[in-house]
Formats: sequence, structure tokens, C-alpha cells
Amino acid sequence: MAIDSWLEKEKPRHLSELFELLRIPSVSTDAAHAGDMQRAAEYVRGRFESAGLQARVCPTGGHDAVYAEWCKAPGAPTVLVYGHYDVQPPDPVELWRNPPFEPTVEGDSETGNIVARGATDDKGQFYCHVKGVEAHLATSGSLPVNVKFLIEGEEEIGSPNLRPFLEASKELLAADIVVVSDTSMFAPGRPSITVGLRGLAYMEVTVTGPSHDLHSGLFGGAVMNPINALAQMIASLHDDQGRVAVAGFYDTVRELSEAERAEYRALAHDDEAFRRELGIDEDSGEVGYSIHERVSARPTLDCNGIIGGYTGPGAKTVLPSVARSKISCRLVPDQDPDEVTALVSKHLLAAAPAGVTVEVEAHHGARPFLVDRSVPAIQAARAAMTRVWGAETVFTRGGGSIPVVGDFKDVLGLDTVLMGLGLKDDRLHSPNEKFGLENFYEGIRASAYLFEELGRRG
Ligand code: BES
Ligand code: MN
Ligand code: MN
Repeated sequence: MAIDSWLEKEKPRHLSELFELLRIPSVSTDAAHAGDMQRAAEYVRGRFESAGLQARVCPTGGHDAVYAEWCKAPGAPTVLVYGHYDVQPPDPVELWRNPPFEPTVEGDSETGNIVARGATDDKGQFYCHVKGVEAHLATSGSLPVNVKFLIEGEEEIGSPNLRPFLEASKELLAADIVVVSDTSMFAPGRPSITVGLRGLAYMEVTVTGPSHDLHSGLFGGAVMNPINALAQMIASLHDDQGRVAVAGFYDTVRELSEAERAEYRALAHDDEAFRRELGIDEDSGEVGYSIHERVSARPTLDCNGIIGGYTGPGAKTVLPSVARSKISCRLVPDQDPDEVTALVSKHLLAAAPAGVTVEVEAHHGARPFLVDRSVPAIQAARAAMTRVWGAETVFTRGGGSIPVVGDFKDVLGLDTVLMGLGLKDDRLHSPNEKFGLENFYEGIRASAYLFEELGRRG
């Protein structure tokens, strides 16, 4: 087939273009990288243009988004592809085998891995669609569907400016379906469509005791230590069954149906491999649910960071004035991030011992997502993935969050197909993040086939 042989021939160029993007440290959370954010957006815009699309960089109030389109197929459906060019900070940098923004191929040139920050999340994955579109335009001068791209620069900080951008750009972004590749396949060689994502409620709690740090010998025993208080409060957030002990937390949680649980069992998640990969000998969590259910269809609460007192080398005897913690909840339908934030705040305030004051600040949130798998475009994506990998495409739910996906439905009225091209062990947000070369090349083919399938089905 023309597209297949063209893709084969273009592999080295596709890889070197992705490498160039991976060399730009587009860390959205760090103001020191503002210039790199602009360079990355401009680079992406340029690649769209050279692929034959019209593209521009759009201000959003925060980091720019890149918009591109090819809309020359009147009567054919319109696909909006979403992705993000921003990445998480590379820390801790010393744990990388190679510098995070100097992409390398580890292993064989066909089956090895691209290692760099952003390799799978999300530069490598969204770039598959840029090249999937290009494959059609380069081999036939046309596409079976209209395509629009929205590649943003603030996903990793919660997409704070994207909803207003969608609201102001309804006409520009009008489409029939959204396609996102920013999740993972169920397992190598087992393609999957992600039909659910968890939501997020992220907050920061500050516990304040005495007005200044104190000598722990002169004052210890008479003053409530904010770190002790915080530890006590955090410990009260779970019960001994691994459930979140916040009143009302589960009130709006949709229970898994027997059919859904049977589907989880049929997927046969490899629990042993899961533990081995993470270097733990016991998994832990809510009693009564499997690992796979717990990381994708059940809500959780986790402490993401804890700050307080003396953390330098050696020992310093000090009774600190302040302690802080970052706490996140992963949410499932029909939990609401604002409501959960309010419930957890209330719990923390009530759990505080005498002698400290507690403040809870809300950070970003995301609503949980669940799509009906009968959506025709999901069936098209399933067919495209099965053609590429020669294996049945399964449906799974992802444990992470993509804040804008809920807004696509609310603001633009669009369903989203989450066509994950990465793997679960890609180490996203961790040192030595990777994206398989096979995932990259097959992902491009899956994208090209997807446009074909969508065009054929109308
Ligand atoms: N691509 C991930 C989300 C993801 C990964 C979902 C794998 C399902 C499977 C995304 O870039 C991400 O990291 N999201 C953040 C959202 C937050 C910063 C608002 C998350 O889930 O922590
Ligand atoms: Mn991502
Ligand atoms: Mn991410």
C-alpha cells in the first residue's frame, strides 16, 4: 500500500523531527522555560505547515496553543486532534541515564526506545497524528476527512486557560469527534481504546503552630508540633480497609456493574508483573477491588508531597512553625472536583488537633470521564488499531486525567476517542521516560488508518 511504503521510507526523517521537538525543554510549570515554550509552539507550527496544513500559534492568556487545519474534504467528517507540547519537569535529573532533553535511542533501531522527557507524554504520541496526516497528503494530495489540530502548552499544569479558549473558538474548533493520543495501550501488542479517565482534585494544606521555629528541647512537650499534627491529620484520611475516610467521599461514586467487573477479569491484568516492575512485594489499596480496578475505576486520595522542619544534611533540633502537604484525589464518575475539595477540607479542619491553625488551598482539578463505546468513531479507531497490531482492540479505563476532555463534551458537544499509543511502563513524569520506536512508527500508521476508517464510515 502506498502509505505503508511511504511511511517505511520516511522513518528516519520522522524520528529526527521528533528528536528536534524533544530537545526543546518545554516545561510549562517553570517560568524559566517561557522562551522554550514559545520555541516549541513555533516548531510544532512549522511542522504542521511543512506537512501541508495551515497553522498558527494562538494566544490563550497562558502558554500559547497551536492550531492547524486541513479542511478541503467538503461533506466528509471533521476530526479534531488534541495533544500537548508541554512536559513535566525532568527532576530528579541525576537519575536519568542521559540528559532528559537530549533524546537517545536505547536498544535496537527498530524495537528500541526513544528516551527523553516528553517522549510518550505527549510529544511522541501527538506527533504520530501530524505524520499520519502528512502520510495521506504526501501520497495522495488529500485526506479522507477534514482535520483540525489543537496542541496546547498547559496540560501538565491543569489546562487553566483552555476552557475559555474553547468557549471563544467554538466555530474554529467545530468538528464531529475529538481524537487524543495521550494514554497507553493495555499491554505491548494489545491495542486498546481508553473509554474512561479519572478526574482530579488537588489541594495544599498548611498547618501553622507557633509564630516561629523553636528549640525542640526548650519547647518540645508544651507546643503542638505542626508536623506531628499534619501526620495525624493525613493518617486520618484512610481507614484500615484502604478506603478514604472522608465523610461523603463515596456518595456520588458510580459502582462498577457486574458486567464491568467481568470485563476487568477477562483482561487478566498481570498483578505479579505490576509488583515486580515497581519493586514492591505487596500492593495496597481499597479492600475488595483488584489492582486494575483500583488504578482506574476507583477513587483515591494520596499525599503527593510533604514539607516542614529541617530537611538539610545532618540533624538540627527544631520544632517547626509550619508544615505543609500536597494532597490529590483521583475521581471517578460522578464525583465533582469542587465538591470533593470541600469535603476533604472539612475533614482536615475537623481532624486538626488543638494548638494549630489549618488552611486548605485548592489547586487544579479535572472532571472524570466515561464515554459510550458505541460512538462510531470509537469503532473506527478500534478497526484502525486492530489493522496495525493484528490483535483484538480492547476497552480500558485510564487512571490519569486529561482536564480538557470533559470540556470538549460540555463546550463543544464532542465525544473523545482516546487512542493510547504508549505503554504503561513508559515512565511518564519519571526519570528515563520512554516511547517505543515501534509504538511511534505503528502509531503513525494507526493514525493514517484511523483517518481512512473515519472517512470510509462517513
Ligand atoms: N497523559 C497524562 C494522563 C494520562 C496518562 C491518562 C496515562 C491516562 C493514562 C497527562 O499528561 C497527565 O499527566 N495528566 C495529569 C493532569 C494534571 C496535571 C491536571 C495527571 O493525570 O496527573
Ligand atoms: Mn499527557
Ligand atoms: Mn502528563
